Amino acid sequence: MSETRKVHIKSFGCQMNVYDARRMADTLARDGYAETADPEQADLIILNTCHIREKAVEKVYSELGRLREMKEESAALGRTQTIAVAGCVAQAEGKEIIRREKAVRLVLGPQNIHRISELVARVNSGEAVVDTEFAVEDKFEQLAAPKPEVTRARGISAFVTVQEGCDKFCTFCVVPYTRGNEASRSAERILREAESLVSQGVREITLLGQNVNAYHGCGLDGRDWSLSKLIARLAEIPELLRIRYMTSHPRDMDDELIEAHRDIEKLMPFLHLPVQSGSDRILGEMNRKHTRAEYLAIIERVREARPDIAFSSDFIVGFPGETDGDFEDTLALVRDVRFAQCFTFKYSPRPGTPASSMSEQVPEEVKTERLYRLQELVERQQHEFNLSCVGRELDVLFEKPGRHEGQIVGRSPYLQPVPVMAPQSLIGTVARVRTSELRTYSLIGDLVGAPADRLAQNSHSEVNAFA
Ligand code: 5AD
Ligand code: SF4
Repeated sequence: MSETRKVHIKSFGCQMNVYDARRMADTLARDGYAETADPEQADLIILNTCHIREKAVEKVYSELGRLREMKEESAALGRTQTIAVAGCVAQAEGKEIIRREKAVRLVLGPQNIHRISELVARVNSGEAVVDTEFAVEDKFEQLAAPKPEVTRARGISAFVTVQEGCDKFCTFCVVPYTRGNEASRSAERILREAESLVSQGVREITLLGQNVNAYHGCGLDGRDWSLSKLIARLAEIPELLRIRYMTSHPRDMDDELIEAHRDIEKLMPFLHLPVQSGSDRILGEMNRKHTRAEYLAIIERVREARPDIAFSSDFIVGFPGETDGDFEDTLALVRDVRFAQCFTFKYSPRPGTPASSMSEQVPEEVKTERLYRLQELVERQQHEFNLSCVGRELDVLFEKPGRHEGQIVGRSPYLQPVPVMAPQSLIGTVARVRTSELRTYSLIGDLVGAPADRLAQNSHSEVNAFA
């Protein structure tokens, strides 16, 4: 089919939504839809929404209001635009979206994205469609693979969802309701997808899941495989250079996975391990199923296994009942661990979750003040961590040309951008870089063992202009 129609997908929230958006685009490509970055040019517009925090629903409705105006202007010019809402807000709101915003013709949940072609066809024949039932079939099997040129255009680093959903039921979180129960893909299918990506030039894969280290899929030998087993098998793909995974729960950091950090060189020494709070009382109220001491013990064991590892985490401030003392415990935990990066959030009541109806909701101004103090601390730690990477030799996986002639940009094991003067032929390879300076978040450096004439051209003013 020729590509005459255009689709624009706007994705919010986590990497899993980015992955879903790409797979919807790949599947629609089979029906002749080309992707466009410009909503005005699009015949089909999909908002792939996130419900995790802050006024998510209201934001979607105001975005839809803008899209309705655009749709009306297009209609006046004789063009038909179709508006669809996907993702976790679609799952949570369902047909309410079409009731409140008539411009929307299709609502589909994250578990139904594989039906996108059929659903769009129904909408194109005049129906308004809502599909938020949790599908029983394997959605990943039914989504189309990207075309080779599309994979190449997306770059050398790719996401692969290996696990979805969550059974942990943290009391603040909507994920167990919007993404359903924990479910893992089979190792065979993940490997097939990974091998296909690698054959098209991908060199780094980040395994995704709401609870990725709870992965337990059917293995190649028919037995249950853990995440560490899956990683070990993926590491055997020769041209795959780097493996990462996110997001993990402390409870599922088992011995095997910790040992994988020691034994598998391709597994990057960077671990996102959210703790949410440093107070045992709040961790209990959050139903996190681990204590502060247990979290710290895991960090220590991972550090023993892989001394150069860096950690990142998520924190929520102002969870119902959080006192000044509880918040001080969070600050103390951050000081203890010394994170390379943290994501900090004000608690936001999510309808239908247990914490939203807890008494003792924390006043907004208290949340704001705590967030500010926590951010100040984590930003200082991030800066200190980045500074500690200066003057070191780091392996860098080069991803793309830099802003300046003769420059390419890669990433360190810790995801810091590293621009260097080096030939484009190094893109897609790992090379050692000696870092000499930190510019905002970028590490400036030179290739180790670069020929003297190239280093001579590599004047600092030129390189520094990057960051
Ligand atoms: N309020 C604030 N932050 C939240 N998160 C999840 N739910 C909420 C909520 N209701 C944060 C957690 C989680 C991250 C993805 O989003 O820190 O780890
Ligand atoms: Fe949400 Fe907790 Fe599950 Fe993470 S572990 S997705 S925070 S319920």
